[in-house]
Amino acid sequence: MTNPQVLILIGSDSDLPVMEEAEKVLKEFGVACEMRISSAHRTPKLTAALTAGAADRGIKVIIAGAGMAAHLAGVVAAETTLPVIGVPTGGGALNGVDALYAMVQMPGGVPVATMAIGKAGAKNAGIFAVQLLALSDSGLAGKLVAYRERMAAEVIARDEKLQTERAS
Ligand code: RP5
Repeated sequence: MTNPQVLILIGSDSDLPVMEEAEKVLKEFGVACEMRISSAHRTPKLTAALTAGAADRGIKVIIAGAGMAAHLAGVVAAETTLPVIGVPTGGGALNGVDALYAMVQMPGGVPVATMAIGKAGAKNAGIFAVQLLALSDSGLAGKLVAYRERMAAEVIARDEKLQTERAS
């Protein structure tokens, strides 16, 4: 199996339905990734070990998805100089706003590139990881251009359908 270039860390298996969106995008672009469950609070030592060893085994980008107090992305960013993308997975009494604030309000010096709450954020985390990898991979850069073109063509097709329906 190809060595993973992206490590997706999730705080709990309850984050899976959201974070699978990131995995789906990476697969679509042919980027090998690994998904691990490790919590900043419940398994802090495992989280530190997975993160600290990531660069040495070829990981280039880490995506961290968590909800509620959501310290995962920040703790991961503290343990590595690899780029860390955070996804507030949502849920909880505050519907993800808690996790969003926890991730986005990092102190100066230790950034987390924080995405939107929920599935759109997870999808964008996958795309953003591809964009980072594409800086040194022209094949991936070409796939990103094709992806944007497909997306635009879909919107145009939907508009044409709408116009046809409205005209009839
Ligand atoms: C966070 O707490 C996890 O990332 C998850 O989003 C949330 C709740 O975890 P569970 O109680 O569902 O395992 O650490």
